[in-house]
Amino acid sequence: MTPGVRPLVAGNWKMNGLSASLGEIEAMRLAADAGEAGEAELLVCPPATLLAQAAWNIRGGKLSLGAQDCHPQPSGAFTGDISAAMLKDAGATYVIVGHSERRTLHHETDELVRAKAEAALKAGLVAIVCVGESHAERQAGEQAAVVIRQLRRSLPAGGNSETVVIAYEPVWAIGTGLTPTPGDVTVIHNFIRALLVEVGGPHAAKTRILYGGSVKPSNCGDLLTLDNVDGALVGGASLKAAEFLAIAAAYR
Ligand code: PGA
Repeated sequence: MTPGVRPLVAGNWKMNGLSASLGEIEAMRLAADAGEAGEAELLVCPPATLLAQAAWNIRGGKLSLGAQDCHPQPSGAFTGDISAAMLKDAGATYVIVGHSERRTLHHETDELVRAKAEAALKAGLVAIVCVGESHAERQAGEQAAVVIRQLRRSLPAGGNSETVVIAYEPVWAIGTGLTPTPGDVTVIHNFIRALLVEVGGPHAAKTRILYGGSVKPSNCGDLLTLDNVDGALVGGASLKAAEFLAIAAAYR
C-alpha cells in the first residue's frame, strides 16, 4: 500500500457474463455502498454488452464500472470495435488496456496500447495499463526489464495519478493459480514506482499500481498489503460477488 493512496480492487470479467450475471454486480454495489470494501474503491469490468444496463443499475452508488478494451479511434469504419467515447457514453469510467490476453491473442503492441490509453484519457476514462512478463522471460530473469520496457512504451502522454492506473500481471500467473512471491511482487512494483516518478514527476508517487494474476481470498492478505501494491486486478475470482468481496475485505 502507498500512504495517502486509495486502493483499487478491480474485477475483470473477460468474456464471461450474461444478463443473468447482473445480480452479481448488484451484490457488489450493495457491498460497496455498505462500505464492505473498507477504504478501497471497488470496480467491476464486465463485457461491453452489460455496461449500459449495469451503469443504470448501479447509478448513484459507490461501485465503479469499467470496460476491458477500447479502440484508439473515437469513431469510424472499424467493424466490431468499440471506442472509448462509446464506453464512456455507456456509463464506464475506467477501461483496461494492454491486458496480456489482448497483447497475445490480438497481437497488440506497446504502441497500440499507448494509443488506446491516450484515447481513453481523451474520452475522460481512467486507463488501466497492463504489463507483465511471460514465463520464459521470468525464467531468463528478464522480468524487470520487460515490464519497464512495456511501461515506457505503453504509458499515455499527459497521464497522471488520477487518469492512469498500472496493473502488473505476470502472464504466467494469470488464471494458473500460480503467483510470484511477495518479495518478487515488491521488486517489480518498486521498479514500476521508480519509473513512474522518473517520467511523471513526484505526483506519480500516488499512481495506483495493482497486482494481478491468480489473486484469491486466500492470498490477497499477503499480496495486497505490500509496499507499492495499491490494489488488485482480479479475473476468475471476480465473477462471484462473494469471492470478489472477500478479496476487497483485505482493505477493511
Ligand atoms: P486471474 O486473471 O485473476 O483469473 O488470474 C487476472 C487477469 O487476467 O486480470
